[in-house]
Amino acid sequence: MDKMIVFSGNSNSGLASRICKDLKLKMGRSLISRFSDGEIRIKIEENVRGKDVFVIQSTCPPVDENIMELLIMIDALKRASANRITAVMPYFGYARQDRKDQPRVPITAKLIANLLTIAGANRVLALDLHAGQIQGFFDIPVDHIFAIDVFVDYFKKIGMNNLVIVSPDVGGIKMARAYAKKFRAGLAIVDKRRNSPDATEVMHILGEVEGKNVIIVDDIIATGSSLVEAAGALRRAGARKIFAAISHGILSANAVEKLESSDIDYLVITDSIPLGEEKKSKKIKIVSVNKLFAEAIKRIHFERSISVLFDSIRR
Ligand code: R5P
Repeated sequence: MDKMIVFSGNSNSGLASRICKDLKLKMGRSLISRFSDGEIRIKIEENVRGKDVFVIQSTCPPVDENIMELLIMIDALKRASANRITAVMPYFGYARQDRKDQPRVPITAKLIANLLTIAGANRVLALDLHAGQIQGFFDIPVDHIFAIDVFVDYFKKIGMNNLVIVSPDVGGIKMARAYAKKFRAGLAIVDKRRNSPDATEVMHILGEVEGKNVIIVDDIIATGSSLVEAAGALRRAGARKIFAAISHGILSANAVEKLESSDIDYLVITDSIPLGEEKKSKKIKIVSVNKLFAEAIKRIHFERSISVLFDSIRR
């Protein structure tokens, strides 16, 4: 382990500290400050020559700041002769624009992949990417891990019965099916239409939810529109308790307010994005992905397979 060193940007230092604690490593020392005009100034404060370096940074809000911080940190590490640099991204932002689905739109997920590679990242470790194919936007290795087992453990401890797993859109069916298998539960799908980036409308529920407890599983909650609309439709279709397990709690705009007055009993998110004080709610529970990341980092460092960490969703 003496060849390995973990640094953290400012976006999610809480999770980074928990990961370092699990790894029994002291966090690498770095100075992250600002020039008077706001430009980011970074100095790596220990020797990284020849080391296997991991930089933990979620590109959550303030998104652009956090991305620049990560890029500049990687640049500093590369110029300090790190042997290998892994960008550890519990939340990989700018992922929703992942294809040209309209004329004259960018593919920001590809742009971010290019920027990371040009900065000097040699590999990426990411959790629940918005779309699996984002791995292919990189020409460096990407290890893609999933929070599914963390959520399944949480709900199994509570003891859930008479359960149906719900995907809030067609794109999430594969993941929802993996949950349904783990819980030996039924599966339902919400047929959703997105009217604008911030508004969705539920057209139909495919599957039987009447009299059932449901868990809606998704990768992102941003404005909360998809989740709240889906919960309303599920309640109208006769669902009993309605829970949600969502990897990345962006919770932008008035998402928390919407959640509080919704049909959701409660939402479970991971700590891939830190939850600000102003977003705390009785309806939001947090599970940590520290152990998952610590294990993945260890396996990458020792060149061991990490597929055991995502086997369940391939089956
Ligand atoms: C959509 O493809 C995603 O999986 C999420 O359902 C979506 O990004 C959530 O956004 P919002 O909370 O703004 O509806």
